[in-house]
Amino acid sequence: MSKVYVFDHPLIQHKLTYIRDKETGTKEFRELVDEVAGLMAFEITRDLPLQEVEIETPVGPATSKKIAGKKLGLVPILRAGLGMTDGILRMIPAAKVGHVGLYRDPETLMPVEYYVKLPTDVNEREFIVIDPMLATGGSAIEAINSLKKRGATNMKLMCLVAAPEGVAAVQKEHPDIDIYLAALDEKLNEKGYIVPGLGDAGDRLFGTK
Ligand code: PRP
Ligand code: URA
Repeated sequence: MSKVYVFDHPLIQHKLTYIRDKETGTKEFRELVDEVAGLMAFEITRDLPLQEVEIETPVGPATSKKIAGKKLGLVPILRAGLGMTDGILRMIPAAKVGHVGLYRDPETLMPVEYYVKLPTDVNEREFIVIDPMLATGGSAIEAINSLKKRGATNMKLMCLVAAPEGVAAVQKEHPDIDIYLAALDEKLNEKGYIVPGLGDAGDRLFGTK
């Protein structure tokens, strides 16, 4: 069974409060999602392997450390995952970025895939799949399926807010994928929205309604 991590860092929790607040407008919402994504990237990369390298400082030779192996891949789930991408890229500027386009059918709540573009060396990279919302889990499950079908073997899932139903669904379908969250909320409502959640992440990020 995969692990679920909820980041309790005070800065993440403080900013999440403003993200949830319905009075927070598009500009501020977008800025806060971007900032929290960067802070979460800092936490999620804690276990990246390091290698020792020899360098010269202005004072003399030194053995220092660099991140080992291939750079990470980020895969935002369109559209709302885009709101978290730049914040993570500021922390990991050399990461490659793939995209998986999915929307939830409003009637069935089932994900519909409309776009996939991934780095070519998909089987050699560790990926972070990004989406602010993990509700029923359908979109995340489908995005991970999409990556696995194309050869990805090493992934993490990073979301701002999740419902227990979505976490359970991803764990059942993908027991190899650890899940990283800023908050684990109470439940889903009858429309598949997270309660208390933050509303429709895509609409709040992009000002659509
Ligand atoms: C939202 C959200 C997730 C999905 C979560 O996207 O960004 O991708 O719903 O719900 P699920 O866990 O029940 O699948 P939406 O389908 O509204 O598309 P959008 O990002 O284009 O607004
Ligand atoms: N998608 C969202 O944007 N918000 C939710 O609460 C659930 C799915």
